[in-house]
Amino acid sequence: MTTKHKKDVHILAVDTSCDDTSVAVLKNDTVLSTIVSSQIDIHKEWGGVVPNLARREHEKMIDGCIDTALKRAGFGDGTIANRATALEQITALAVTWGPGLAPALEVGVRTIRELALEHNKPVLAVNHMEGHTLSCLIRNSNGNYYSGIPSTEAVEFPALAVVVSGGHTELVWITDIGNYELLGETLDDAAGEAFDKIARMLDLGYPGGPVISRLAEGGKRDAYPLPRPLSQKPGLDFSFSGLKTAALYNTNALKEELGPEGFAKIIPDYAASVEEAIVDSLVIKSRRVLKKREPKMVLFGGGVAANNRLRYKFRELCKEFDVPVYFPEKKFCTDNGAMIGLAAYYKYLRGETVKNVAELDRDPSIRIDTAI
Ligand code: KG4
Ligand code: ZN
Repeated sequence: MTTKHKKDVHILAVDTSCDDTSVAVLKNDTVLSTIVSSQIDIHKEWGGVVPNLARREHEKMIDGCIDTALKRAGFGDGTIANRATALEQITALAVTWGPGLAPALEVGVRTIRELALEHNKPVLAVNHMEGHTLSCLIRNSNGNYYSGIPSTEAVEFPALAVVVSGGHTELVWITDIGNYELLGETLDDAAGEAFDKIARMLDLGYPGGPVISRLAEGGKRDAYPLPRPLSQKPGLDFSFSGLKTAALYNTNALKEELGPEGFAKIIPDYAASVEEAIVDSLVIKSRRVLKKREPKMVLFGGGVAANNRLRYKFRELCKEFDVPVYFPEKKFCTDNGAMIGLAAYYKYLRGETVKNVAELDRDPSIRIDTAI
């Protein structure tokens, strides 16, 4: 992969698609600063993200995150009063315009729209899923890929991206940066959502993925047989709602049979069985792609890509097919502004700036393969 451009491109990127207010500043494909203000503590008492609370919190945090990100990148002094001077160093602004929660997306889109009009900057409207899809390609300021991709020459297409987050589960065929084919996706719940919902049944709190994964380390993965939905059917789509329902019946029966203390003892085995079922479902469909197509690399993205068992099983799978597999640095698995800035950088090189910034709006249900 070669990227030729004459001048350095500095991008200020914002993502408010769900429950993190994320801002980053990039110089080309390298990250100068990244800020994530998490709302987990606010939403966890509700067991999931509450859209209007998310909007309120984004509104509260967005300006501070922007000024801090600019300051940490070496631009400005971190105050809103000094923002105009800081923005002189910025080539373009970027924002996630979808998919995501409408009230949350609106905050980022409105903020960037107003900033762009006031300071006369071009805007890149980025698809959140393209951000996750490309998150292995983020570099640090030494020029190294956080994901461990050994060099620019090792970035080769076509590639298969497995994007597994709280809202999406997608197999994306990348023929080139900016060129995507959606091979398969979930028909109901996302992989992260399955972790979150099953964790709630087990009274383990929110978000469920990290806690299930931690408990699973000491558990027996074959202790409780759980379904791998759609694995017997052809195709590349996923389904996790059947697994969730099976877990619901199963845990209710076990709670009754074992009582609270007995049930608490089997939680590590249950968590391990759940984790195995979710990861297996992903492996089964990805294996089908690897059998039929020959990607030059496999790239992961999304919060669930932080999962250690998933990483282990996909390293094994990809070894079998002799294809390199990369995972984003953990801080770039979950939502972050850096991945949006990276996707925006390539859009900028392709000349894909927003034509009418005043009319820029969010699109909560846009797909990765939608042409704009
Ligand atoms: O990508 P992300 O921040 O949000 C969306 O864009 O949806 O992903 C959040 C999801 C949550 O469902 C969370 O439970 C899951 O990622 N997650 C994990 C792990 N860390 C986060 N799932 C499994 N194992 C983990 N270690
Ligand atoms: Zn996300």
